[in-house]
Amino acid sequence: MKNVLVTGGAGFIGSNFINTILKKRDDWKIVNLDSLTYAGNLENLKESEGNSNYNFVKGSITDKELITSLFEKFKFDYVINFAAESHVDRSILGSEVFFTTNVIGTNILLETSKRFGIEKFLQVSTDEVYGSLGPEGYFTETTPIAPNSPYSSSKASADLMVQAFHHTYGLPTLITRCSNNYGPYQFPEKLIPLMILNTVNGKKLPVYGDGLNVRDWIYVVDHNLAVEMVLDKGKIGEVYNIGAEREMKNIDIVKLILEKLNKSEDLIEYVKDRPGHDRRYAIDASKIKTELNWKPKFDFEEAISKTIDWYLENKNWWERIINKEYLKYYDEQYNSHEQVV
Ligand code: NAD
Ligand code: TYD
Repeated sequence: MKNVLVTGGAGFIGSNFINTILKKRDDWKIVNLDSLTYAGNLENLKESEGNSNYNFVKGSITDKELITSLFEKFKFDYVINFAAESHVDRSILGSEVFFTTNVIGTNILLETSKRFGIEKFLQVSTDEVYGSLGPEGYFTETTPIAPNSPYSSSKASADLMVQAFHHTYGLPTLITRCSNNYGPYQFPEKLIPLMILNTVNGKKLPVYGDGLNVRDWIYVVDHNLAVEMVLDKGKIGEVYNIGAEREMKNIDIVKLILEKLNKSEDLIEYVKDRPGHDRRYAIDASKIKTELNWKPKFDFEEAISKTIDWYLENKNWWERIINKEYLKYYDEQYNSHEQVV
């Protein structure tokens, strides 16, 4: 039996990880520690409720006493840290909570893991730590870290701390750096779900700048299969990039969503650019492919259609979210964009 601490498991990627892994591994006992910020939602985990190998604890990774008591009680073998403030635009509005959760929270998990001893600590990181690419080239694991946003700086800081714990104390760590995810249960502040829901609700689709920024897209299930594989077979102390070789310009994603929903491109509204907007992300995933034999299973066209269908079929899930006050506040701050002609 493995006792596993999964943090941030009520969010988009973490909940998908837990729901999937509980079905596959009956030798894992999972504790999901999540503070349920605006992005955490226990509805994402409905299918795992009642599973005797699953426990939910509401609390923050920044709460030292709570973390200590959980380690005492559950004697974790693995720690998988998904918990984070995850949205670049929010980090531009206010960076403090990004530093607190993403850096201090990770540090507390590392300190406690060192104190109690664990088998593996996996830090779920992002390709955004590498900064921005020009039209050519790819991020490899040896690309120097050069984050640009408060979000990516906080994730890069956490990565450096994880590596320091490996080098200094021999903590058995692993880091994954994945590209942009999409799929069911993604909070509708991120590009794909926001554009789907705005289209469905007849709202304008705010495209930042010239819409030619490029992101490299991966279906959430493929990301999590890679995380599982890195945990199982990854070399301790190493970093693994994860990506599915699907670069898309933002405007092309938006047009694709409109086309699939049979709506006019008149809904597109070019708005003022995001400050410090990274131009292009693109992952070279050859290391995980050659060393661990991972490869993405999902075809982009099929998975994006599945994702759109999921939002169409799960109005109850997103209606509750978009009616919440905090999103209205956020909308006023961010989505009342100045139109750029
Ligand atoms: P999300 O915002 O949907 O979920 C984050 C979860 O963390 C939420 O459930 C939230 O309640 C929880 N959380 C936040 N602060 C916490 C705290 N202090 N203590 C405990 N729980 C806390 O994010 P996501 O998209 O699921 O991302 C998960 C992880 O994957 C993050 O670390 C993110 O940096 C990384 N990542 C995301 C993407 C992406 O495209 N979304 C890509 C690469 C890496
Ligand atoms: P996002 O989903 O916020 O992910 P990230 O910034 O972490 O890559 O944004 C993806 C891309 O879409 C990014 O280039 C910013 C752009 N974008 C828009 O043009 N309009 C929007 O309303 C949002 C949320 C994002």
